[in-house]
Amino acid sequence: MNRIALAILILVVLISAVLTYMLLIHPQYAKPKKILRVGTSPDFPPFEYISPEGKIVGIDIDLIEALAKKLGYEVEIISMSFDGLIPALINNQIDVIASGLTITSERAKVVAFTTPYWDANQAVIVAKTSNFMPKSLDDLVGKVVGVQSGTTAEGLLTDFIESTGKNIDVRSYDSYVLAVKDLVNGRLDAVVIDTPVAEAFTKNYDVIISCVIETGEKYGLAVRKDDTELLNNLNRVLEVFLKSKEWQEIINKYIG
Ligand code: ARG
Repeated sequence: MNRIALAILILVVLISAVLTYMLLIHPQYAKPKKILRVGTSPDFPPFEYISPEGKIVGIDIDLIEALAKKLGYEVEIISMSFDGLIPALINNQIDVIASGLTITSERAKVVAFTTPYWDANQAVIVAKTSNFMPKSLDDLVGKVVGVQSGTTAEGLLTDFIESTGKNIDVRSYDSYVLAVKDLVNGRLDAVVIDTPVAEAFTKNYDVIISCVIETGEKYGLAVRKDDTELLNNLNRVLEVFLKSKEWQEIINKYIG
């Protein structure tokens, strides 16, 4: 009787060892991790930018990595120009946009936003050496002003031009980094850009904030409209995450 019990025990141990190996250890049997394709435009420090080592880093990247981990996803970061993000999401080339994306009613017609995770306004920045210190949109009339294509900054300027009939020479760039470089080079009189990002640029480029236009923007992550399961899962973990120490650490890491 004891021998039979021993034999059964050995058998059970052996079977569980084989199963553990197959399911947890051997890559061929291990369940592949679900991949979350995240689109971003890495020209927007401290939210997404290219580190000196050539890696895409920033608050948005750490945020989505943390949320994805909690949901059992592995993240694949896909870099593209900002105005290509919403089309890429709709065409199923990416699953999430994490790119300092402002929640707007216009965009909410075509994508679904999570609950907000950041507040922003628009800043007008100029070169440090500039004598021109605009204090309002009206001061930009007749000037050459850079923005990133497809942004709320671009919308702010085109709305101003349309509603007042006044003219601003708006130059739309693929990348905010290029716009800021042209500002430093003297090719632009000003750049309009989100406040937290303007502050980051003043640390690494010879530019200063000339004024702030209160737009009351909020950033959200965006997913496809029909992806309600992903949206609900992201919201569930995001809500808890925003109150966590981990989130504070991410902010300290990039903003200090
Ligand atoms: N918040 C602004 C918008 O949604 C600008 C975002 C730009 N983001 C970026 N990663 N370049 O239009």
